[in-house]
Amino acid sequence: MISLRNVTTAFAARGKDPVIAVEDVSLEIPQGSIQGIIGFSGAGKSTLLRNINLLERPTVGEVEVAGIELTSLDDEELRQARHQIGMIFQGFNLVNNLTVLQNVELSLKFAGERNRSVRQVRAAEALEIVDITEKATSYPAQLSGGQKQRVAIARALATRPEVLLCDEPTSALDPFTTATVLQYLADVNRDLGITVVIVTHEMEVIKALADDVAVMEGGRLVEKFPSADLHREDFTPETSIGRYLMSEGISVDRGLSAAGGAR
Ligand SMILES: Nc1ncnc2c1ncn2[C@@H]1O[C@H](COP(=O)(O)OP(=O)(O)OP(=O)(O)O)[C@@H](O)[C@H]1O
Ligand SMILES: [Mg+2]
Repeated sequence: MISLRNVTTAFAARGKDPVIAVEDVSLEIPQGSIQGIIGFSGAGKSTLLRNINLLERPTVGEVEVAGIELTSLDDEELRQARHQIGMIFQGFNLVNNLTVLQNVELSLKFAGERNRSVRQVRAAEALEIVDITEKATSYPAQLSGGQKQRVAIARALATRPEVLLCDEPTSALDPFTTATVLQYLADVNRDLGITVVIVTHEMEVIKALADDVAVMEGGRLVEKFPSADLHREDFTPETSIGRYLMSEGISVDRGLSAAGGAR
């Protein structure tokens, strides 16, 4: 469904060497699957995700989605092709002075849906998918983080995409709310057959939701494995970064404080 071939993305930096955010990444994501992309901050995850809909055009390499080579399209063709790719951004990116329903309608407007009543019906449908209809006339500031994220999912689903790109969709949420948001993504994948790509720094999220995992470090895709492996007791990732991400908990060296040391 999604095919990334030797994708490299470099950002020019004035007076310095360019930042290579993504370096020679190739990845095949089958239709209807959930692909996790994991790595630490700055690993290039968001850039790679944005490469998939060409929000960030790769410097080198090819991107194919649903049989269309996006990298070869002109602007208008690309605008059309993007309708089948929904995106949930890191942070919620809702428009604060529009209601929930209007936020979702807006994405349909951007997608070129000119008929207002069609937009309203589709927006209402999308809100229903994530059970947030009762907040249709509320403003983003009146919603909890989990509710905002559900609106962001509704907005991405309103154009009936075949692919849903999710950038850290749960990083601002507590564990319970994370579970509900992930459940909605799982339902959308199963019921609507939407191919999901999810970027996260939490192995728990991958373990709960993904079919396959790609580990990124320093712009490179360093390791890939089926996420079912994470449930096997004898499984150890090949790379140290993979092993680190899999290890649970946070460890902090607090040294010896003056008070602690004296005791
Ligand atoms: N528009 C840009 N201009 C210059 N450098 C950029 C730009 N966007 C990203 N970078 C750089 O590219 C690298 C990868 O950034 P990216 O946002 O893809 O990382 P990430 O894995 O998503 O990190 P995080 O987990 O913190 O969101 C970083 O070094 C970042 O500073
Ligand atoms: Mg990011």
